[in-house]
Amino acid sequence: MKLWGGRFTKETNQLVHNFNASLSFDQKFYKEDIEGSIAHVTMLAKQGILSDEDKESIIKGLESIRQDIDNGTLTFTAEHEDIHSFVEAHLIERIGDAGKRLHTGRSRNDQVALDMKLYTRHEIEEMNDLLKSLLDSILRIMKENLHTIMPGFTHLQKAQPITLAHHMGAYFEMFKRDRSRLSDTLERMNYCPLGSGALAGTTYPLDREETARLLGFTGPTLNSMDSVSDRDYLIEFLNDMSIIMMHLSRFCEEIITWNTNEYQFVDIDDSYSTGSSIMPQKKNPDIAELVRGKTGRVYGALMSLLTTMKSLPLAYNKDMQEDKEFVFDAIDTTKGCIVLFHGMLDTMTFRKDRMRASAEGGFTNATDAADYLVNHGVPFRDAHGIIGQLVLYCIDKGISLGEMSLEEYKAISPVFEADIYDAISMETCVNKRNTIGAPGPEAMTKVIDSYEKYLAE
Ligand code: ARG
Repeated sequence: MKLWGGRFTKETNQLVHNFNASLSFDQKFYKEDIEGSIAHVTMLAKQGILSDEDKESIIKGLESIRQDIDNGTLTFTAEHEDIHSFVEAHLIERIGDAGKRLHTGRSRNDQVALDMKLYTRHEIEEMNDLLKSLLDSILRIMKENLHTIMPGFTHLQKAQPITLAHHMGAYFEMFKRDRSRLSDTLERMNYCPLGSGALAGTTYPLDREETARLLGFTGPTLNSMDSVSDRDYLIEFLNDMSIIMMHLSRFCEEIITWNTNEYQFVDIDDSYSTGSSIMPQKKNPDIAELVRGKTGRVYGALMSLLTTMKSLPLAYNKDMQEDKEFVFDAIDTTKGCIVLFHGMLDTMTFRKDRMRASAEGGFTNATDAADYLVNHGVPFRDAHGIIGQLVLYCIDKGISLGEMSLEEYKAISPVFEADIYDAISMETCVNKRNTIGAPGPEAMTKVIDSYEKYLAE
C-alpha cells in the first residue's frame, strides 16, 4: 500500500499512520489530482518518456477512478496515506504495470503543490462569481432608492442626510475591491509547479511549458525549491477572504442595528430570521450575527497559516500539509456567508418612512444651514457658531430646525429669509451634493451607470 515501503523493515505504528495521514481532508481535491496526472502523462508521452500505449491506459484508468469516486462506487479508505497514494494504488490495481510508470519524473511535493493550486484557482473563481451576484442585488437596491433619504452617521451619531442608494454604494465599492483583490491573487499564483520534483527538478526531459499550458497556467514556476514550498498564494487568498468577511461583518452589524426596535429601518424577512424558545415576540437577526461571528474564524485561519509558515526552512516540510484544513474551512465559511448574506439582503424590506423621519430628527441639515449663511456672505466660522446657537435653542424647545419660525431665525441672525426652509429641506440637502461620489441623485446616477458597465463586463 505504501509508496515508500522499500527502505523500511518495520510496519508503521498505527498512531503514526493516523497522525501522518491527510486522506481524510485532501480527498477534497481528487479531481484536481487526476487532472494533474493526466496532464503529466500526456506530456511524458509527448516527450517520449512514456509510450503512447501506457499513456492511454493510464488516462483510461484515471478516468475510471474519477468516475467511480464521483458516483460513490469507490470510497476512501483509511489505509491510504493521502489522495496521491490512494489514486496511484487504485490505478496499479486496475491497470497493472503501466500504473507504476505514472509517477515518473514527479514527486508528491510538486504534485500536492499543483493540486492545491488547481483547487484554489477554481474556488477563487467561484467566490468572485458569488460576489458578482451579490453586487447585482446591491445595485438593484441602489437603483430603487436613489431618492430614499436616511441619516448618514459618524461616531454612530446622526451627521448629514444621505440616501439609501449612497449607503449601499459604499458596500458596492468594498465588494468591488474584494473582487479585484481575488483577481490579483489569481494572476500572481497562476504558475505551474508541476515538474519541480521533490525540490531539485528532474533528470527527465520534461516539458514544463507544455504541462503548464495543458493545465491553463500562465507558465511554469521558475525555481523548483520555491515551487514545492510556496504557500504565499494561500495566505493571500486567506487575506482576501478575511477582508471580504470584515466587509460582510460591517454590513451585518449595520443591519442588526437597523433591525432593532429603536431604529426599525429594515425588516428582515421571516425566512431569514429566527425566534426565541422562551420569548414569543422575538424575531432575531441570527444570520447577520452568525456571519459577523464567523469572521473571527476566517481571521483565525489566516493567522494559523502565517504561523505555520513562519521560519520554515526550504524546501518542502510536512508542516505544510497543515495548510489544507484551514484553507478549506475558510473557503467553505466565506462562500457560505456570502450566499446567506445575499439571500438575507435580497429579501429584506427597507422602512423608508422610518429612515426619513430619523434623518429629519437629528439636525442632519445643520451643515446646510451654515452653508446658507455662507452663501449670504457670512464667514464659515461665524456661520458655524450661529447655527450652533440655533441647535441649542431647538434642543431646548424640543423642535427641529425646520420647525422654527422665521422670527425665531431672525432673532438669531437677520440674514435669514423665508428661503431658509427650502435650503435646509432633506431633499435640498441631498440633491445639492453632486460632487463625484456624493449622494446627490445626479452624481449617484453617473456612478450607477459605471457600476452597470462594470457588472456587464
Ligand atoms: N500529504 C502531503 C501534503 O499535503 C503530500 C506531500 C507529501 N510529501 C512528502 N514528502 N511526504 O503535504
